[in-house]
Amino acid sequence: MAGIRIRGGRPLTGSVPVSSAKNAVLKMMAAALMTSGRCVIRRAPAIRDVETMAELVRSLGANVSRNADGSLVMEAGIVTCLEAPEHLVRRMRASVLVMGPLLARFGRVRVPLPGGCAIGPRPIELHLRGLRQMGARITEERGFVEARAGRLLGTEIHLDYPSVGATENLMMAACLAKGTTVIRNAAREPEIVDLQLFLNKMGARVRGAGGDAVYIEGVDGLSGADHEPIPDRIEAGTYMVAAAITRGDVVLRPVIPRHVEAVTAKLRETGAIVEEVGPDTLRVRGVDRPRPLYVRTQPYPGFPTDMQPQFMALMAIAAGASIISETVYTSRMKHADELRRMGADIVVDGQVAIIRGVRRLTGACVEASDLRAGAALILAGLAADGETVVEGIHHVDRGYETIEDKLRALGADVWRVAEDVPAAGGVPLVRR
Ligand code: UD1
Repeated sequence: MAGIRIRGGRPLTGSVPVSSAKNAVLKMMAAALMTSGRCVIRRAPAIRDVETMAELVRSLGANVSRNADGSLVMEAGIVTCLEAPEHLVRRMRASVLVMGPLLARFGRVRVPLPGGCAIGPRPIELHLRGLRQMGARITEERGFVEARAGRLLGTEIHLDYPSVGATENLMMAACLAKGTTVIRNAAREPEIVDLQLFLNKMGARVRGAGGDAVYIEGVDGLSGADHEPIPDRIEAGTYMVAAAITRGDVVLRPVIPRHVEAVTAKLRETGAIVEEVGPDTLRVRGVDRPRPLYVRTQPYPGFPTDMQPQFMALMAIAAGASIISETVYTSRMKHADELRRMGADIVVDGQVAIIRGVRRLTGACVEASDLRAGAALILAGLAADGETVVEGIHHVDRGYETIEDKLRALGADVWRVAEDVPAAGGVPLVRR
């Protein structure tokens, strides 16, 4: 298991480029399965989840390649297989997003049921219920879901919860349905608005994304599209916390300031200075010890669950006690145990964490349990005294493009290590 080794204590300064949004790119790759036309996704980040999605769409028969300028080119003229391979769905839950597009275009799809994951059980019943309402016949057997339909039929769908994935899966399926579909209590994340833009470039007729109802007028066919996705607001948020936690001074670009408003508001509460220094540029400066916070995760525009672990790291060194209430996932607190190994004082009771800030964290060998937990541990390592090794860095590679290069360019003392590299003084870096 590869790790990232960090010698903490240096304030980060300088500029950091923000990559395109992983959670927009993955859905656009799924959407591209609905056309035989050529789809170009510009500035697609070189991260593991994009590679996994590329592997998935290739396994279905589509072509994917990357141009020298970083754009991803997808052509799904020929689709030879309508079943998502189990190992890829296990590796990345977003794989279930091929269900709506394949069902809508080919009338059949078979996808393994995604199991639980490190942050809790993540069922897809909202996706399935919506597809059923559009006329799909769905059977679940031996861990697989199979959906069949003639042409899907537009209908009114009310989601019990504003699920991001369900909104997107149903939105894509509805593009090729007969008639109009309305998705109420839809998720409002910016990536859904960006997906709407991409679908409309393909010739779809979608409106309302970003509000709580999305309206999709079905069309007979879709064509190729060329699109540059929005900047990744979670990657941006992570570097914003990196600036605050190291008392640094970091400029981030490109960022859509509105997309990170909840993060900006909380950082300002801690005393950090966040300024819009350009229409797509933010500057974040950390000052002294952060003030403690109350953070409650919610669907957008509430505070994002994908920033919760990073804020827990920041709260670990706050001047006072903070409370984090995680309402989106049932067990997204595993990073608390690892932060404790670095000297943090955190009590977790179910979906609530109480964090009593300590003056200093100390470097330790810790393990990432998932993507954002890994980011949080790296942030803690940047602030800690001494050396930290974050193992399980493959989780971080799912969503952060060249993270150690970006951090090093900001002045961090950080590098990647193979599993059994001994630490200075001969102490093994790997716990087990
Ligand atoms: C997306 C993001 C993920 C983010 C999450 C919430 C991608 C690839 N991933 O995940 O990074 O953390 O939004 O912002 O875009 N749920 C059900 N039944 C369903 C669907 C969801 O109970 O049918 C529950 C889930 O278990 C979870 C909650 O709803 O507890 C939120 O899930 P959802 O909004 O669907 O997140 P994802 O689309 O999986």
